[in-house]
Amino acid sequence: MNDALRAGVSARLELHIAAKQYVAASGARHEVLREIVLSLGEGEVAAILGPSGCGKTTLLRIVAGLDTDFDGSVTLAGKGRSHPPKMGMVFQEPRLLPWRTVEQNLLLAAPGASAAAIDRLLADFGLSSHARHFPGELSLGLARRVALARAFAVEPDILLLDEPFASLDARLAGSLRHELAKLVSRNRATTLLVTHDVDDATELADRIFLLSQRPARIIGIVPIETPRSLRSPERLAAIGRDVIARGVGPER
Ligand SMILES: Nc1ncnc2c1ncn2[C@@H]1O[C@H](COP(=O)(O)OP(=O)(O)OP(=O)(O)O)[C@@H](O)[C@H]1O
Ligand SMILES: [Mg+2]
Repeated sequence: MNDALRAGVSARLELHIAAKQYVAASGARHEVLREIVLSLGEGEVAAILGPSGCGKTTLLRIVAGLDTDFDGSVTLAGKGRSHPPKMGMVFQEPRLLPWRTVEQNLLLAAPGASAAAIDRLLADFGLSSHARHFPGELSLGLARRVALARAFAVEPDILLLDEPFASLDARLAGSLRHELAKLVSRNRATTLLVTHDVDDATELADRIFLLSQRPARIIGIVPIETPRSLRSPERLAAIGRDVIARGVGPER
């Protein structure tokens, strides 16, 4: 990660979703999110942990500004900045441009990035030998790395992550989670990670927001005081037990 990014001042995020409904093709309305209120400090990493289908992607799309059809407000505030906060996003599927190489996918997201910055990012994510590969030549694990590297390439003030390790085997998810933990600590972006995986939340977050089944509401908030780099397997297991005791079971 480059020095400008490390030195960058991260933005803050304020979210209030009073209600979010979808209208089905039949015309019926169904409520997906209700009274979601959260406020993230500079550089804070929050995990939104909730069961499959509860509305996590919907929430993230609202924060990203991709869905404006909801009751409430999103405020992304830079501190001492004249330009709006920069946002990096990792979608639930890697969504790479198939006709562009790995390197080009990163450059398209961050046209102003220097070759050195892109090279460093590729190295951070173990992608140096894949820079000139096309997405079709990558395994899912590698494609997910590229999607993460692309989100960091914009030197984000706000980082939005939608289940970035979904469909990876446990060992691969674990190693990628570990790398991401190091990068979010260095990067200092205000980060919102949505996941149904307790391990994602306990390893990465400063605070975990627990969501109910649909319509999703916040049913608990678990702050994690221990810095990410000092969370032992025992500490992680204890936090995970606390989370599960509050009604969020591991995915079955
Ligand atoms: N465009 C849409 N129109 C109508 N209903 C939708 C739309 N998008 C999502 N939904 C419904 O809203 C609910 C929440 O969807 P969402 O994708 O936000 O959940 P999720 O928590 O991200 O799920 P998953 O864990 O599977 O990723 C689901 O019941 C889904 O079917
Ligand atoms: Mg989703």
